Amino acid sequence: MTQRPQWPLGHHDRLGFGADYNPEQWPREVWDEDIRLMREAGVTIVSVGIFSWAHLEPAEEQWDFAWLDEVMDRLHAAGIAVDLATATASPPPWLTAKHPEILPVNERGETLWPGGRQHWRPTSPIFRTYALRLVEKLATRYATHPALAAWHISNELGCHNAYDYSEDAAAAFRAWLQARYGTLDELNAAWGTAFWSQRYSDWSQILPPRLAATFPNPTQQLDFKRFSSDALREYLRAERDVLRTHTPHVPVTTNFMVMLGNPWPMDYAAAASDVDFVANDHYLRPGPQARDELSFSANLTAGIAGNRPWFLMEHSTSAVNWQPINTPKLPGELARDSLTHLAHGADAICFFQWRQSKAGAEKYHSAMVPQAGEDSDIFRSVVALGATLRTLAPVVGTRRERARVAILVDLDSWRAVQADSHPSDRVRYAQEALDWYTALLDLGIGADAVPVAALFDGRATLDGYALVVAPILHLVDARTRDALISYVDGGGHLVATYLSGIVTEHDHFWPGDFPGALRDLLGVRVQEFAPLRDGESVTLESAFGPLTGTLWTDKLDVIDADVLARYASGWLAGRAAVTRRAHGTGTATYVSTRLGPAGLRPVLTELCGRAGVVSPLPAAARGRVELVVRSGPSGRFLFLINRGDEEVAIEDLAAVAGGPVEIIDAPALAGSSDGASGLRLGPRGVAVARQPTTVSS
Ligand code: GAL
Repeated sequence: MTQRPQWPLGHHDRLGFGADYNPEQWPREVWDEDIRLMREAGVTIVSVGIFSWAHLEPAEEQWDFAWLDEVMDRLHAAGIAVDLATATASPPPWLTAKHPEILPVNERGETLWPGGRQHWRPTSPIFRTYALRLVEKLATRYATHPALAAWHISNELGCHNAYDYSEDAAAAFRAWLQARYGTLDELNAAWGTAFWSQRYSDWSQILPPRLAATFPNPTQQLDFKRFSSDALREYLRAERDVLRTHTPHVPVTTNFMVMLGNPWPMDYAAAASDVDFVANDHYLRPGPQARDELSFSANLTAGIAGNRPWFLMEHSTSAVNWQPINTPKLPGELARDSLTHLAHGADAICFFQWRQSKAGAEKYHSAMVPQAGEDSDIFRSVVALGATLRTLAPVVGTRRERARVAILVDLDSWRAVQADSHPSDRVRYAQEALDWYTALLDLGIGADAVPVAALFDGRATLDGYALVVAPILHLVDARTRDALISYVDGGGHLVATYLSGIVTEHDHFWPGDFPGALRDLLGVRVQEFAPLRDGESVTLESAFGPLTGTLWTDKLDVIDADVLARYASGWLAGRAAVTRRAHGTGTATYVSTRLGPAGLRPVLTELCGRAGVVSPLPAAARGRVELVVRSGPSGRFLFLINRGDEEVAIEDLAAVAGGPVEIIDAPALAGSSDGASGLRLGPRGVAVARQPTTVSS
């Protein structure tokens, strides 16, 4: 097998810095200014052409590459590399006018009109023919262009068109099901079609889960999500294979959307194997845990990438345009957000977009060069960040050090638990996972976000983690169950929450009492689920002090476990709420209600104490600072990230690092030296300290 190129060509000695660049929106005079400002900012790489199909092919088979040639040449002359898009994300009007049958269809059977973007069916053979022709044209034309550093396939695959219910999708879904199940009997068994007279007697009867009289079959819905993800991946590989044929030396990526909102349209943990390096887009979700969510997503992106360096393809310098209310970032946040991604293993920090558009749906979206121009705090912050990334070049290629705590993340659990016809539609898988992450950060403890899928292909292992958190690990297959049992058998400490272990990979209940797959390991049985209404809460009496539960409770019987907390109010008063079973030399703790970050803190304090996990931070900085360490041959780099709006002092940084450190000085870094080994970390600031790597003899 040939070795694939791993990283944008020519970027092995510097951190990438740049943006999506859309010169087609601007006259040439502006291009001159763009290059001047890019140089001033220290931009090293830009993504070009993402939405430029209509400019490259203004009419069928009429090509116009002159403008792109010029852009590529100008960028190269300025020493700026290009992550060249395949330009297929948004089909031009002539194509949808000629072939309206490429347009996606929603679950009601309504065809979506063109006029926005990404209006194409992932399974459309016609779309694919046109798109791959364009990809081939670009690949052959720019194969040897010296600016070409990487390929950027499409854009955020599935962002707007993940779930297509068209006839093309129906045919592809049936083929996918035939490959998965082989026979109709297998499919009928997996989908539980004995229920509601849903038994299929011919493959042609099977449809995507279109709008039905009531809840469509849940396994059909889950399989449709899996299929839709695979359809996007198959499309991704089709473009990739064209590129690899013509430019085997150029690495290929596409921008994922690893964020904690809704279940992802594409299974990124799986799709990581389709690309040469992982790239991610991240946008903040407003709320009290916004910063922690960014950190968690960056952390998880590293987990998806198998802890290899990854590329932050997009984030924003300030406000976006697509929230109900779009507030700007506060001073320092542009740098803090960027450097948090860097801390978690990004070797490139890029934005959407270079220059704020003057027309179109995203004209209110921030950019590196805002409408206010270069005389603006945003541009000054961009310039400072560019200089800082140059100073931080030795970080390139280092890897994030492993934490002692892992939080498992499982897309199928997320999909299944948030499907319709469940005990509560208020359950938010990602929120529960984030609450544990926040609670750990509140205690000064970092965790690795680990995709469950990565445990089975060598990207990750539970070995060596002192504590493993399984938030709402709802869908559990036999190998995952076995991995958790052997982890605890081997002396590990596992904590699982409500709704874990309930269903198999087909979304059927595991046999016997809840929590099914994890029942024996946890030593409890759930007689009944008892979700709480909005605004309702229960109190708990516990060894950790009083706690409050919301969202969910279980009517729990203890089979073989110690009770750590009991419900103290409501109809379950007196019954177990938090339990622990010793199993081998390890323990398995069960938390049957939503405690939120404040309630999880005392639980985690006890658990971390038991597991021997200690915060490296001094008491005064715990909770206020996130510490992430990257290390490699060039040294250990401690990223100290101020989570809040107040200055934080760390008196003895050498004690945190376990040896002498040098605080790196750069314009976007907020750490200033305070005494011999002291650090003052400004509001929302990030400091980076370097410790030489000791070479053991
Ligand atoms: C991303 C997308 C960009 C831009 C950005 C705005 O989802 O890839 O093209 O739309 O959002 O925040």
